Amino acid sequence: MISGLSVATALLTLTASVNALWPIPQSYKRGDTTVWLSPDVQLVFDSPPEVCFPPSYRYTKRRVQEAWSRTREIIFQERFVPWKFYPRGTKFEPGAGTGKVIEKVFVEQTSVDKPEPARYGEFDESYKLAIPITGGNFTSLGAYGVEAALGGGREPGAVYITAGSSLGVLHAFTTLSQLFYYSNSQPGGVYSRLAPVEIDDKPKFQHRGLNLDVARQWYPKEEILKTIDALSWNKMNRLHLHVTDSQSWPLEIPAMPDLAAKGAYADGLTYSPQDLQDMLTWGWSRGVEVILEIDMPGHTTSIAEAYPELITGRDKQPDWDRYAAQPPSGSLKLRNPAVKKFLTTLFDDLLPRLKSHSQYFHTGGDEVNKNVYNFDENIKSNDSAVLQPALQDFVSYAHAELGRHGVTPLVWEEMLLNWNLKLPKDAIVQTWISEASTKKVIEKGHRVIAGNYNFWYLDCGYGQWLDILPASYKNFYPFNDYCSPRKNWRLIYSYDPTAGLTQEQVKLVLGGEVHAWSEQTDPANIDSVIWPRASAAAEVLWSGRTDATGKNRSFPDASRRLAEFRERLVLRGVGAGPIQQLWCHQNPGGCQL
Ligand SMILES: *[C@@H]1O[C@H](CO)[C@@H](O)[C@H](O)[C@H]1NC(C)=O
Ligand SMILES: *[C@@H]1O[C@H](CO)[C@@H](O)[C@H](O)[C@H]1NC(C)=O
Ligand SMILES: *[C@@H]1O[C@H](CO)[C@@H](O)[C@H](O)[C@H]1NC(C)=O
Repeated sequence: MISGLSVATALLTLTASVNALWPIPQSYKRGDTTVWLSPDVQLVFDSPPEVCFPPSYRYTKRRVQEAWSRTREIIFQERFVPWKFYPRGTKFEPGAGTGKVIEKVFVEQTSVDKPEPARYGEFDESYKLAIPITGGNFTSLGAYGVEAALGGGREPGAVYITAGSSLGVLHAFTTLSQLFYYSNSQPGGVYSRLAPVEIDDKPKFQHRGLNLDVARQWYPKEEILKTIDALSWNKMNRLHLHVTDSQSWPLEIPAMPDLAAKGAYADGLTYSPQDLQDMLTWGWSRGVEVILEIDMPGHTTSIAEAYPELITGRDKQPDWDRYAAQPPSGSLKLRNPAVKKFLTTLFDDLLPRLKSHSQYFHTGGDEVNKNVYNFDENIKSNDSAVLQPALQDFVSYAHAELGRHGVTPLVWEEMLLNWNLKLPKDAIVQTWISEASTKKVIEKGHRVIAGNYNFWYLDCGYGQWLDILPASYKNFYPFNDYCSPRKNWRLIYSYDPTAGLTQEQVKLVLGGEVHAWSEQTDPANIDSVIWPRASAAAEVLWSGRTDATGKNRSFPDASRRLAEFRERLVLRGVGAGPIQQLWCHQNPGGCQL
């Protein structure tokens, strides 16, 4: 919150027809004065010496400059003319010659970036952004020393950004890109009618993610890079890649080339080490950490294409549902030296390549089937009393291997809550099954990434993908999937990952993820499955479910801003569906109930 702010111009609240920002900043004050952005606008990245000189600055500067080029390109090329948000026939564009022209964007980063990859809590993502219309006193920014950096008073006709890290600067640019509109009446012109602007912003949660399943369907690298772009425009900062599963193993592991050569759906449908590196670098440049998940011991049957001896209960048919949540059944064997050797080889190959990008790795652990272990020669049982210690042995081994590489594990909630396994103290647990799960995990002392499937599963409501036999027709009619109905953006927006927690417990919630499992999603519809619904979660995770006064954020405010942001997503090449019929956009307040 800005305190002690003194701005001469009266700042408006919600009267203009465009309101620009998604996710909404913690504090956002704006007016209704026009400013134009010069086509020659320049970035002045000016920071105190202690920020500029450490070796890490090279990276900081590269990240900021790359982000600035992208931001400039978006601002000048996206050509967003917001006619949809004004009543029919309104002349909403400013006339020629009205308003100051912004020539410079001053950016000051106030502290040195932490060495990367960072751990949770090490990066300050906050930023402040101001577009003054007079030379007035911007005390809130002055505190950061921008005035000193500029050699005294502030010039109007500039944007001022201060941030505690390069990631904060990136978020400020993302915000900036949403404040400007394209002028049809003065072609090439880019303006904002929202000046003066004062924004003081920071995320509510540190982990704002999307879980994308790239194993059940194949996604080319470019599709993943595009999704990373869209995440960054939403100020989301994690892409959880569920990169292998029972159905396919697209991830090339040079130490075990057969894994992908035989486990991928087809030749060429794999991610090479270079592809992976490209994803990590792309994410780094956009402030999105890519975290890989190799789910285990369940969801691993595709390993059997190369190493059948490691998998128990492979593709049992036709009663596969006794042995797995989905076909093909199969699980990594337990208490098995060859499996342990496999894990060591896998991690020794993969983790060093990830380590410069993320200190975290997801070992999965959901939906472990018991009956499949009746076939495992060292187990021969489906009794939990037998399986639990064997599973503990397996998971402890995997996590010790991660530990050897200095990597912290993430796991699905079942490992802790259903199997009652002892996990490394710093292990992070991802909840998905129920409202109660998050609290239970916290009570066991672990940090949580939340995402209840009843709210945050993007793949629900698309109907059954199983081929229902004639004899089962009646049981399955009308062929809903298990988590039907589809989670609409309002439902997603109404989910509070911290509901029912004490203030002390909330501290262990790192954030959340929306999930895109790919049974019925592939590159043809990925955009419309993820966007704009993931944006609803993005605002919950960045801004919080409630506003500064503690009230739930309202749909009338959110739907308008989301609709505007959706237009920008579409112009940037993301096929996000519409929020409302146009009439509602053109007639604010006319579609309320
Ligand atoms: C800025 O604020 C200071 C201290 O409050 C005041 O003395 C000065 O006159 C102000 N300057 C302007 C241009 O308003
Ligand atoms: C455990 O396995 C036995 C032997 O196959 C089977 O009869 C029993 O139904 C299984 N238990 C469960 C809970 O599925
Ligand atoms: C606020 O949202 C929560 C869910 O996040 C809901 O349970 C509650 O009823 C809402 N309160 C009001 C007053 O709308």
